[in-house]
Amino acid sequence: MPTSIKRIGIITGGGDCPGINAVIRAVAKTAIYKHNLQVMGIEDGFLGLVENRISPLTSLHVSGILNRGGTILGTNNRCNPSKHYVGDDEQGNPIFQNRLDECVANLKRHEIEALIVIGGDGTMACAAPLVQKGINCIGVPKTIDNDILGTDITFGFHTAVATATDALDKLHSTAASHHRVMVCEVMGRNAGWIALTSGVASGSDVILIPEVPFSLDVITDFVNSRMHRGRGFSIIACSEGAKPAGGDQMATQIDPKRPDPVRLGGIGAWVANEIEQRTGIETRHTVLGHVQRGGSPVAQDRILATLFGHHAMELLMGGAVGRMVVTREGRLQDADLCECAKGQRLVPPDHPLIRAARSIRTSFGEYITDAGHGRKKSN
Ligand code: F6P
Repeated sequence: MPTSIKRIGIITGGGDCPGINAVIRAVAKTAIYKHNLQVMGIEDGFLGLVENRISPLTSLHVSGILNRGGTILGTNNRCNPSKHYVGDDEQGNPIFQNRLDECVANLKRHEIEALIVIGGDGTMACAAPLVQKGINCIGVPKTIDNDILGTDITFGFHTAVATATDALDKLHSTAASHHRVMVCEVMGRNAGWIALTSGVASGSDVILIPEVPFSLDVITDFVNSRMHRGRGFSIIACSEGAKPAGGDQMATQIDPKRPDPVRLGGIGAWVANEIEQRTGIETRHTVLGHVQRGGSPVAQDRILATLFGHHAMELLMGGAVGRMVVTREGRLQDADLCECAKGQRLVPPDHPLIRAARSIRTSFGEYITDAGHGRKKSN
């Protein structure tokens, strides 16, 4: 049923990513020009909602931002209103409070009748309890990691892949000149989408992703055999969440105050060091880090962001409640926001891109067994 909403809020949560401003622009312009609504912007994600930092967003605020990286509203990946960190107790343990009622009160104070929530799985998980408290939230899936349940693609991913591919291309020429192994650690958290996609796009020799645990023996055999075959160098695209078979992911920091306490990282350096020790081949590592989140969105992300923003408004004005914009098989659709917040979309180990990469002799560093006989073969 169409709705008679007069005022909406826009909130951007979690890590920033290219294309957020393009979504804000699409949502706000559709709301203002097509539906004659008032739009309010919430600063710094859910922290701004808890702290009542909310102000009007006019067409002037959202013009000229289509190609700008980051988010004009600011964001935050440390605040979950259901479990808001307020300090430490005497033993140094974090104290959390439930601040959902304040969020609801602040929304009411500004007469905001619905929220467009632009964020990843963590942000959707923050929004889900608000939906249960009667605040209509429409989600727009944002993350460079491409790991949100329910959608085939998130905006920001294409730009991160382009950045990672460009870096891997650049590492190719220096690796070839020095006859080295180059390991490039890319982001993605527990999902290997960035490493897989940029690895294939750059023709990397080895791709390491969390979904396919690797063996160092297999990687070193593979790197050595490339040397003997006269290739003289190897490029390894390594996801920050990659892990050895039977081992754990590596973290640079564990912070219990954050909704996601684990900051992954360090696996690229470890793999590079092990390869050099075991093969004697000079090996270097690069950590791409937050450059993957920065800069101007590529055309694909600007288009996706515009389609997502418009679709979110169409859903809202059509009477949808607690839905998230998704794409499935190339078509814009919607899914239950609370359901999408329940997990992460990982790379299926039999994904077509993995099969294609294997058939052109890209190694995923895992043991390949012949007809279940358990013989090692570095593919
Ligand atoms: O979710 C996006 C992401 O960039 C991940 O790929 C990465 O693990 C994490 O955020 C880094 O978070 P932070 O910005 O807090 O270091």
